[in-house]
Amino acid sequence: MTETSTTASGTGGISSEQQAVEQQLVETVIASFDKAEDPRLKQLMQSLTKHLHNFIREVRLTEDEWNKGIEFLTAAGHITDDKRQEFILLSDVLGASMQTIAVNNEAVKQTLDATEATVFGPFFTEDAPEIPIGGDIAGGAAGQPCWVEGTVKDTSGNPVPNARIEVWEADDDGFYDVQYTDGRVAGRAHLYSDEDGHYSFWGLTPTPYPIPHDGPVGKMLEAVGRSPVRASHLHFMVTAQNLRTLVTHIFVEGDPQIEIGDSVFGVKDSLIKTFDQQPAGTPTPDGRDLAAQAWARTRFDIVLAPAEA
Ligand SMILES: [Fe+2]
Repeated sequence: MTETSTTASGTGGISSEQQAVEQQLVETVIASFDKAEDPRLKQLMQSLTKHLHNFIREVRLTEDEWNKGIEFLTAAGHITDDKRQEFILLSDVLGASMQTIAVNNEAVKQTLDATEATVFGPFFTEDAPEIPIGGDIAGGAAGQPCWVEGTVKDTSGNPVPNARIEVWEADDDGFYDVQYTDGRVAGRAHLYSDEDGHYSFWGLTPTPYPIPHDGPVGKMLEAVGRSPVRASHLHFMVTAQNLRTLVTHIFVEGDPQIEIGDSVFGVKDSLIKTFDQQPAGTPTPDGRDLAAQAWARTRFDIVLAPAEA
């Protein structure tokens, strides 16, 4: 079967007359998009039709299963609002988010290898406060303080000053601020790299948390025996002029969830970082007094690909 074929696989045992009826319908629907003025839209709709029909024919989808699918999508729509995005979760747990990222972020290996991208997730917000270099993103979110530092460079090794660095993460209980009921902003901020490309901030040592699993996506994961838990991580989005925007996370070396499996397939080896535990009383990099609290530190050197790559 060629890439452009519309013939369904897995139709063994189906009479040739039946296959012809099914095939005729696929071709009629594909042809219905022929007059689309936008060639890209035409390509997307015709390919979607081809693959959707292929799926239906391959699994011999029952009418009851079709109804269940419609009910599932309806429930996903009903639970979605400006804070909860069930369709992103669905895309994430199907690996569709990571596949889209892979397609759009081919590796760039020059003097320095561009930092790998990973899944965006549903918890970014546009309104995170600005903090100075060395500032604290916690905003009252509970968790172990964690000093994060690094540089932003391009793939030629030049420092990137004034890169906008958005960071966001869950608290110790596994919740993002948008999941709080009181509207507080916590565990997120943005800052800018200095003239040498350096940045640093206080965050929280990441802990594992489940993706929201009280909706249809959670029910699906349960039905197939999959865990909703994500490997511990800290989100980054880094933007700078003439460079490709990087959406990524860093993961915690030694987190058992990395071996068990990240529920959205986001882990890449290059993004697993050492988070060094510092006993209570260890002097902090900026002289901050953490009293009797243990803390952690990590380093994440970011390399941005050229915008056209
Ligand atoms: Fe996350």
